[in-house]
Amino acid sequence: MTNNKIYFIANWKMYGTLHSVQSLKNVIKLKNKQIYNKAKIIYCPPYTLLELFSKSIKKTKLELGAQNCHFHSEYGAFTGSVNSKMIKNVGCKYVILGHSENRISGDSDKIINLKVKSSIKENLKIIFCIGETLKEKKKNKTNLILKKQLINGLRNIKNKKNIIFAYEPVWSIGTGIIPKSNDLENQILQIKHFLKRKFRIKHPTVLYGGSVSPKNISALNQISSINGFLIGGASQNSKKFIDIIKKTIN
Ligand code: 13P
Repeated sequence: MTNNKIYFIANWKMYGTLHSVQSLKNVIKLKNKQIYNKAKIIYCPPYTLLELFSKSIKKTKLELGAQNCHFHSEYGAFTGSVNSKMIKNVGCKYVILGHSENRISGDSDKIINLKVKSSIKENLKIIFCIGETLKEKKKNKTNLILKKQLINGLRNIKNKKNIIFAYEPVWSIGTGIIPKSNDLENQILQIKHFLKRKFRIKHPTVLYGGSVSPKNISALNQISSINGFLIGGASQNSKKFIDIIKKTIN
């Protein structure tokens, strides 16, 4: 997916009630042309809020995504699950796949690969997450792990034009710790190089995720290879989310 806009993706995880739509409405009020010329703002609330958010963002430039989907592309007896057709039907354009919180709770590379296939079938854009644990990092296995996640997760996927990538080191998620700037710049460049060489993706879009906040966004913005951010905790607070966006765009 070639896009020169900077991505700000709000991953609300398992947070949010009907009242939380106010946080979204505060961002909708931000009718700043300059921001929308330069930024793509995508909300990924929990499934329970997708319909409400979908209605709220109509006639705005905000977009909607789901945080996951079931690997089975057809309807079926899968209690508690939602497939790519269903999230598309409720207004999602995007889906986050391979998030480490779902990998930890059982999503193997093979399952993620099936989810990618079923999401492509529905013409959804995929935010494909990769990242190493602290243990893997300490053993110098980062590149090995990231390559394995990419190769296995994207196996037999011919059309990769609707896939963007998010590098989220597991040790950085929710910890307040972000990688050193040089390390992060190098890592993003290495991921892009691999995506170009191995998958022939001409202009890969690679986001960073992990403890992004108004406090560290200026440092992160110095890293020119990053194409945007996947934001957890700070994205639920509209003041913080807007602050992150404004500090990046201005
Ligand atoms: P935090 O921003 O809360 O660290 O979460 C990052 C993340 O997992 C986004 O997908």
